[in-house]
Amino acid sequence: MNRETLNKIIRNRKTIYPTQFSDKEIPENIINEILENAIHAPTHRMTQPWFFKVYKGKSKDVLCEIIHKIDKQKYSVVKINKFVEKVKSSDTIISVCMTRDENERVPEWEEVAAVSMAVQNMWLSCYVNNIGSYWSTSSFKDEYAKHSAFTNNQKSLGFFFMGSYEHVETAKLREGLDIKVEWV
Ligand SMILES: Cc1cc2nc3c(=O)[nH]c(=O)nc-3n(C[C@H](O)[C@H](O)[C@H](O)COP(=O)(O)O)c2cc1C
Repeated sequence: MNRETLNKIIRNRKTIYPTQFSDKEIPENIINEILENAIHAPTHRMTQPWFFKVYKGKSKDVLCEIIHKIDKQKYSVVKINKFVEKVKSSDTIISVCMTRDENERVPEWEEVAAVSMAVQNMWLSCYVNNIGSYWSTSSFKDEYAKHSAFTNNQKSLGFFFMGSYEHVETAKLREGLDIKVEWV
């Protein structure tokens, strides 16, 4: 195992927005590899709360149709259209979803945390594959869930937009260990 490589991947991963994506197609096997890494995230009591819906190619239209069903009284058309633009600029959109353990064997926050770790695995995997990506926890994710026939114990945790992107190293804005860590 190479420490330097791991440090580089973790520290250089960053949010890349759909306007920055190129048109180069992401091969399906790479998307499957990224999803395989997602499901290797840790999970308390092995509830494995995640599930994913992949929208790529023609099925991006299916996602847009669902989004267009959203209540226009609650959400502005401008916001909805912006989302649709992001879908069109992306190669693939992974809908990040969670199934709450039916016996509530762990607190809900732990299941959200587990899905978040799965998203981080996807994000890091995108970085090494020259894929730009970003997690949008869109305000209308619950409406999306409603129009996608989610059951009561299923939730949308947003959308992971992906598109080809040649990563370049840039400085990251982070407060340092001097502020965030206390050695007791
Ligand atoms: C749980 C979570 C939700 C996020 N939701 C959004 C979002 O809805 N819209 C957005 O523009 N960025 C969203 N982001 C991305 C953050 O803005 C981004 O990670 C942050 O600015 C740090 O930049 P970096 O990812 O390049 O390090 C989200 C990130 C996380 C971890």
